[in-house]
Amino acid sequence: MSEKLQAIRGMNDILPTQIAHWQRLEATAQRLLNGYGFGEIRLPLIEKTELFARSIGAATDIVEKEMYTFDDRNGDSLSLRPEGTASVVRAGIQQGLLHNTICKFWYSGPMFRHERPQKGRYRQFHQIGAECFGLAGPAIDAELILFTAQLWQELGLQGLELQINSLGDRQSRINFKAALVEYLQDYRDQLDADSLRRLETNPLRILDSKNAQTQSLLIKAPSLLDYIDTESRDHFETLKSLLDQQQLLYRVNDRLVRGLDYYNRTVFEWITTELGAQGTVCAGGRYDGLVEQLGGRATPAVGFAMGEERLVELLLQVGEAPKPTHLTFIGFDDQALPTLLKLAQQCRHQLLDHRIEIDYQGGNMGKKLNRANKTGVDIVVIIGGDELAEQTATVKFLREKRPQTTISQSQLVEFLET
Ligand code: HAM
Repeated sequence: MSEKLQAIRGMNDILPTQIAHWQRLEATAQRLLNGYGFGEIRLPLIEKTELFARSIGAATDIVEKEMYTFDDRNGDSLSLRPEGTASVVRAGIQQGLLHNTICKFWYSGPMFRHERPQKGRYRQFHQIGAECFGLAGPAIDAELILFTAQLWQELGLQGLELQINSLGDRQSRINFKAALVEYLQDYRDQLDADSLRRLETNPLRILDSKNAQTQSLLIKAPSLLDYIDTESRDHFETLKSLLDQQQLLYRVNDRLVRGLDYYNRTVFEWITTELGAQGTVCAGGRYDGLVEQLGGRATPAVGFAMGEERLVELLLQVGEAPKPTHLTFIGFDDQALPTLLKLAQQCRHQLLDHRIEIDYQGGNMGKKLNRANKTGVDIVVIIGGDELAEQTATVKFLREKRPQTTISQSQLVEFLET
């Protein structure tokens, strides 16, 4: 017997029974993003591997060991996108969208990373992201953060912590990196294999090591904020005061460095303690050098992306997603079908937020009513022999305490609207 086919580890089916929170998250984010002036952009799932190596960074975990990379039939190295920012920048340059103008894009969809799957960490996951090009000042950083705060509020999510940091400019990071490496060299014998490797390839990433011993070594390590350049410091101070004035709480975390190389100045993450180890639900920052690095003209940029699986998990903890009123039409036999279809169509045109179905399955009226009850139907519209003859419809409320009522078919929509 052949082996049962299974989905790939870390890649999930999302079933209709689970979809309500996804749709609410996406619809709310979409409405808000459009309202803040972001335009949706849809991009390929596959890009040249080089795009990600040159943007996210060749020495990052993502590019070093997490990408789904393959040669296509022409021998080009391609990768499934591990994130969206690189593609947005590529498209912006390629389509000539970024010159001397302000561009705001949002996107959503699946991303792919070959990480070790666990709760909140998958190999195919979904992001909703936003990127803004052409604004160098800290006000837009603040606005993006305020956007995310508004989204949490509209979704009823509480208890998320905002952490912010500044990475300074390139030179300040080089200076800080040198100071950090010098400090850690004295403790080489206490570092785990991963940190020892990063000491050579990407020392800043040691700052977010999960190893307790490494973390205790870092307490006395130099702080990034002591190394940042004056302009970046001013940028960061203004950002903080803008957030203060909007009464948005945050914590400055000088260890927050992010796992992608393209950032400078502002970086931020929204973190929850409700999801265990994978608590970052949204992350982003400034990447003023990336457009030029990928061949465009120097263009300041800032953005973020949120993890939909993690947000949906939080929404599930908050409670059930609201369900639309569920209406089912039942008829005594096939003779009622034309009337059922006619009435159902009338209702579908008018009662747009209802779920409206016709019971096509067999059985007598009792059986059909039972089925409606069991499947969570709220209202049943019955067309029996009498109703068919008299052009009426009987409405039965299965959840509400309202009397069963027989009305003329022409008044059905109006009756159901009240
Ligand atoms: P990131 O921190 O790599 O940043 O990912 C953003 C968010 O995607 C994370 O905070 C998390 O919620 C979610 N996420 C990442 N990996 C996984 C995974 N394996 N399973 C489930 N969720 C995951 C970026 O991707 C940047 N492009 C964000 C950005 C946009 N920065 C500027 N613009």
